[in-house]
Amino acid sequence: MKPKMRTIFRSCLNFPTEAIFVSDREIFSPAERGVGVPTASEVGEKSADSEAKSARVGNFKQLLTLTFAILMTNALPGVSQNRDNTPFPWVTLNNGVEMPMIGFGTNTLGGERATNAVAEAIDVGFRLIDTATTYGNEAAVGEGIRQGIERSGIDREDLFITTKLWADDMGYEKAMAAFETSLEKLGLDYIDLWLIHRPRPHEDIPGSWRAMEELYAAGKIRAIGVSNFTPEQLDELLAYAKVKPAVDQIETHVFFQQFAAQRDLETKGIQMEAWSPLVAGNNLQGQQSKIFTNSVLVDIAKKHGKSTAQIALRWIIQRGIITIPRTTVRAEMQENLDIFDFELDADDMRRIATLDLDKTQFPHWN
Ligand SMILES: NC(=O)c1ccc[n+]([C@@H]2O[C@H](COP(=O)([O-])OP(=O)(O)OC[C@H]3O[C@@H](n4cnc5c(N)ncnc54)[C@H](OP(=O)(O)O)[C@@H]3O)[C@@H](O)[C@H]2O)c1
Repeated sequence: MKPKMRTIFRSCLNFPTEAIFVSDREIFSPAERGVGVPTASEVGEKSADSEAKSARVGNFKQLLTLTFAILMTNALPGVSQNRDNTPFPWVTLNNGVEMPMIGFGTNTLGGERATNAVAEAIDVGFRLIDTATTYGNEAAVGEGIRQGIERSGIDREDLFITTKLWADDMGYEKAMAAFETSLEKLGLDYIDLWLIHRPRPHEDIPGSWRAMEELYAAGKIRAIGVSNFTPEQLDELLAYAKVKPAVDQIETHVFFQQFAAQRDLETKGIQMEAWSPLVAGNNLQGQQSKIFTNSVLVDIAKKHGKSTAQIALRWIIQRGIITIPRTTVRAEMQENLDIFDFELDADDMRRIATLDLDKTQFPHWN
């Protein structure tokens, strides 16, 4: 890569360019490359024929990579230095609002557990809190926000609160009412980011979006966006939206790498946010997707003196994607924020690319 381009990337992301755009293997998922998930031996056992073929497509892929890199540069104009002494970068969304690159997820947390975890997370240093109506914990999260503000001596304005409109509340009237309920439960007078949680077929997405646009125009929401929207669903929305979504929050982790979705979002100027960055800590699809003991991640973790969770999170952030890990353990909260003093290199990124299973690890949620 040319030095000039490298400099642009460094200043844009404050991360090493080589680790993001090292080769086609980081940019293209196995499906996009037209091959199955390569095993280590497959990677090492390329025939002379396939090497020659690779060389032929190499130039074309490099061109694509460069094009994508330029798009990334244009679409991520605002990943900035850390703000207000926070230990993480903030990204400027397409409407000028700044959002932390890492936040705290609250799915499955309820009652006191949610309150304590959110208060603790704010105390540890998290500023972005992610909840949703369907988690049934907005009141408990709201209480955690109040306690967190008190404990850490920050202001409400220092926080970035996301909640989501559930599928049952779609349509203009219902969305308007759902927003007031969310606001009341959270005990807030505005929301930083409100997302359509899930685009179910036959639900009134245009009516919901109109409600969101009105609330946004009225200053009750600082940014509006979507979650779990495919490129096609975004195209439909963009055909009538007066306000472009600022964010699309989608499942993204080492086992579902979502490079095609990322390219689409970058082209559209919509910030990507990764949910379940640690695959919910589960072992849903058996040994293959056991994240914390995965041998590739364990190896890379040893090399950097970090944990596997930190490698998995750093890999997302290093791609310019926001993420929101959840934990109730203070030490793990601290660990999840402690990912800005090291860099994954080209070899790390290449090895992590081989972990892509290129499909959801939560089929029961779709
Ligand atoms: N928009 C959507 O449709 C959608 C869907 C799913 C999730 N989300 C959002 O994304 C957030 C994160 O996803 P998630 O809650 O599914 O799970 P996750 O963050 O991928 O993983 C959480 C699990 O990882 C463990 N963990 C966290 N940090 C760790 C560390 N440093 N070391 C070891 N283990 C660690 C936690 O353990 P402990 O429990 O022991 O602390 C927990 O079991 C959610 O909370 C929610 O806000 C959105």
